[in-house]
Amino acid sequence: MTRIVYVNGAYKRYAEAAIHAEDRGFQFADAVYEVIEVLGGRLVDATRHMARLDRSLRELKIAAPMSQQALLQVIGEAVRRNRVSDGIVYMQVTRGAGPRDFSLPGADILPTLVVLARAPRRGWADELAKTGIAVKTMPDNRWGRCDIKTVMLLPAVLAKDAARRDGAREVWFVDSQGAITEGASSNAWIVTAEGVLVTRKLDSNILPGITRAGVADVAASERLKVEERPFSVKEALQAREAFLTSATNTVMPVVAIDGQQIGEGRPGPIAQRLRSRFHQVAEISAV
Ligand code: PDD
Repeated sequence: MTRIVYVNGAYKRYAEAAIHAEDRGFQFADAVYEVIEVLGGRLVDATRHMARLDRSLRELKIAAPMSQQALLQVIGEAVRRNRVSDGIVYMQVTRGAGPRDFSLPGADILPTLVVLARAPRRGWADELAKTGIAVKTMPDNRWGRCDIKTVMLLPAVLAKDAARRDGAREVWFVDSQGAITEGASSNAWIVTAEGVLVTRKLDSNILPGITRAGVADVAASERLKVEERPFSVKEALQAREAFLTSATNTVMPVVAIDGQQIGEGRPGPIAQRLRSRFHQVAEISAV
């Protein structure tokens, strides 16, 4: 439960927090965000998350609301005020508020910043990881700049809902060539029969996942080979293992794709090993 949320300079009780009715985040999804895992009251991979936030802001020419150092202080305060030990921090920066106009506003408009911290039900991801999850493939109908972490998430929301109705927890989007791009809110991975990890190379069709980068570090420390290249749905169905990565899941085994069992139909040893080692290799920093 979130009790206190930071909005534009003040920590407010939820019922009292508000943003402008003509905020561009609300009207145009003119906004970016980050989700950072909190572990034992500390941040996981904060340096990489802050760098990606900075890049998202620069790509869209949205002004940074404050320095990274100041933002980390706000994040720490949100974690403490909400007494979050294990959970997440969510931060969103919008271009700001002004009379609705498609043209970008001048530099006098100040960006909006919202930071919240919350703890989901304890151990939910570990429980899910014991059995693994099912995913459903769907045509990727998102825009051409999925490398920017914008709040323009409606295609992901609708696709995830369709997946849920089919008994799957996540979507794997498929591009026009039949290759898997990524999940609605995660990156997609497979393990080949030879034990090689495969994930799509970074391009404008996928988010450069921070957990994806962390898992590549873990793989290197385990001397596992990683290939960054497109892989088709057919190749995924024949894979020895499959899994997804995100700040909220770390490494989550995928045991079925479109109702077809992957490998033995249970979490594979490589996904389990990467999951168990992830936090040993990730940057964990106090706030
Ligand atoms: N989602 N791809 C998409 C489209 C995502 O939305 C996310 C993260 C990822 C994984 O990125 P990372 O490893 O940095 O979390 C990949 C977050 C968790 C969310 O929207 O809640």
